[in-house]
Amino acid sequence: MKPVRKAVLPVAGLGTRVLPATKAIPKEMLPVFDRPAIQYVVDEARVAGITHFVFVTGRNKSAIEDYFDRAYELEDTLRMKGKTDVLQALEAELLPPGASSFVRQQAPLGLGHAVWCARDVVGDEPFAVLLPDVIVRAAPSCLAQMAQVYAREGGNVIAVEPVPESEVHKYGVIDPETRDGRVMKMRAMVEKPKREAAPSNLSITGRYILQPQIFDHLARQGAGAGGEIQLTDAMAALMQEQSFHALEYDGRSFDCGDKAGYLRAFAAHALADVELGARCAEILRELLAEERG
Ligand code: UTP
Repeated sequence: MKPVRKAVLPVAGLGTRVLPATKAIPKEMLPVFDRPAIQYVVDEARVAGITHFVFVTGRNKSAIEDYFDRAYELEDTLRMKGKTDVLQALEAELLPPGASSFVRQQAPLGLGHAVWCARDVVGDEPFAVLLPDVIVRAAPSCLAQMAQVYAREGGNVIAVEPVPESEVHKYGVIDPETRDGRVMKMRAMVEKPKREAAPSNLSITGRYILQPQIFDHLARQGAGAGGEIQLTDAMAALMQEQSFHALEYDGRSFDCGDKAGYLRAFAAHALADVELGARCAEILRELLAEERG
């Protein structure tokens, strides 16, 4: 079984739900407390053994490429000022030379199309897809948990999490055939089902380990829901040929793709900060007290 070495991070979306912030700044670069959202996602993948990152970018996304590059002037200034701790922190977050590729999705035709744009860089091997507007707090990381399932089961693996039954209509949910602890063999996926028709309340989190044959399906795939080329449709087609397992991972996700979700992610990471968490909690309590008058 080939190991999963490469991760595709689609970052070419327009981020319309977070406008106007995303007019000039990529959504993935918005800070979640003290670092951009994308940093959390890259860290999650690195600890899962990913050694090459394929960013699918679009117009106005050059800040992402710059962020993972060296910043010589900044580093020199920090060195001159003796700020070695900050320098070391920056160093730790750099990607090694040659460990990243940037491919361009010229028009935001959908997540499936964005993943397909990475096909030449990924080649003929299994790969991970991580949606960078979803941050997952988990130990071991969500992708690391999935990699363990992949090592046992092979095929394709996706992460899922339970959502309230009243909210299943907002998500893609899975139809599990059999269950062994947290791992399920999947029968199907359903996009935004009605509550009474939902096969489960397990929603797809935005983390996938996929076989390269997904690219053949994406190449043939027409536009689906919302006029976009959907990854879910290609996965449903691949499911007719290969096994798909779902992992109900141990952890918690934060969807930063809309304003309320972004606030929740920011506040949760502020509260969890070792140095400043207690002060952040005080600030939030003060703000709520003021709000209540
Ligand atoms: P989303 O639908 O959450 O992102 O796609 P979006 O399109 O940027 O958001 P809104 O709806 O306009 O607010 C999930 C991920 O897929 C990427 C996005 O960048 C995001 O990380 N994506 C989506 C692409 O790279 N290309 C696309 O054509 C669509």
